[in-house]
Amino acid sequence: MARPHIEFIQSQAVPWIPQDDTCARPGAFAKTLSADPDTGAATLVVKYPAGWHLDTAHYLESDEEFFIFKGALWVGSVEYKTGDYAYLPAGMPRPSMHSDTGAVVLTFHEGASQLVRGETPGPMYDAGRLIAKMESTAMPWAHPADPIVAATANGAGRKLLREDPETGERTWLLRFGPDDPAKMTHGRVEIHPVVEEVFLMEGEISMPYGYLKPGSYFWRPPGIAHGPVGTLKGLYGFFRCKGGPLTTQWSDGELPITWHPKHNPTVPPQYAAYATTSYDTSLPY
Ligand SMILES: [Fe+2]
Repeated sequence: MARPHIEFIQSQAVPWIPQDDTCARPGAFAKTLSADPDTGAATLVVKYPAGWHLDTAHYLESDEEFFIFKGALWVGSVEYKTGDYAYLPAGMPRPSMHSDTGAVVLTFHEGASQLVRGETPGPMYDAGRLIAKMESTAMPWAHPADPIVAATANGAGRKLLREDPETGERTWLLRFGPDDPAKMTHGRVEIHPVVEEVFLMEGEISMPYGYLKPGSYFWRPPGIAHGPVGTLKGLYGFFRCKGGPLTTQWSDGELPITWHPKHNPTVPPQYAAYATTSYDTSLPY
């Protein structure tokens, strides 16, 4: 069983769970946004309290990908600050980790994420897949690859963080400027052959599942029609596609856009409490 369709939840409504020794980051706190019950793969927001440290050499048995929302985190001798991104393959040796100031980090584990103390068994670590650090704040915005997105979305820009050379899976930041509702009354419906996963950091989105605000998250399995999509304030989000490269099949016709649509999320029962409009909107996640 793969991860269920979650579209959408507000991360503010998900509780911070203290992480114990069975977790990748004992002593930290984490919100699980989605998880695969079979593989252990998961998407989390991890909060490292100020002074957090893990002083023993260790590694993880699955790949870890992360993006720093706030604060600073050290992995060995590498410091990651707000807006920094990394992809650390399974088995990468980590002499230590710590956060002096505290940090909040969007974190993806590609499989079971328990940490293993000690040295890495040699063959596990494929250094060719390492992305040690990318400072996204220093990267220029590029034009989005999809011509319809580029043509219709005012102020659209993309920062590509990762493209897997074998699977074509990608990770990127995307921004749109505000749409003009007087001009943009209708939009197309779209379908992707792969998972589309999004954490909205700024702005808002109107779509048939409801009105997404900062801190919202969705995991949309392949083949699910969605749209039309619009934004009155613009948006800035963290995006991933899983299962291959993201291509888009657009509908020929257009449907009317509903701005500020009715709340109509699709979530499994265990996430129903988080698919709410009642949460602390002053919090970013
Ligand atoms: Fe999409």
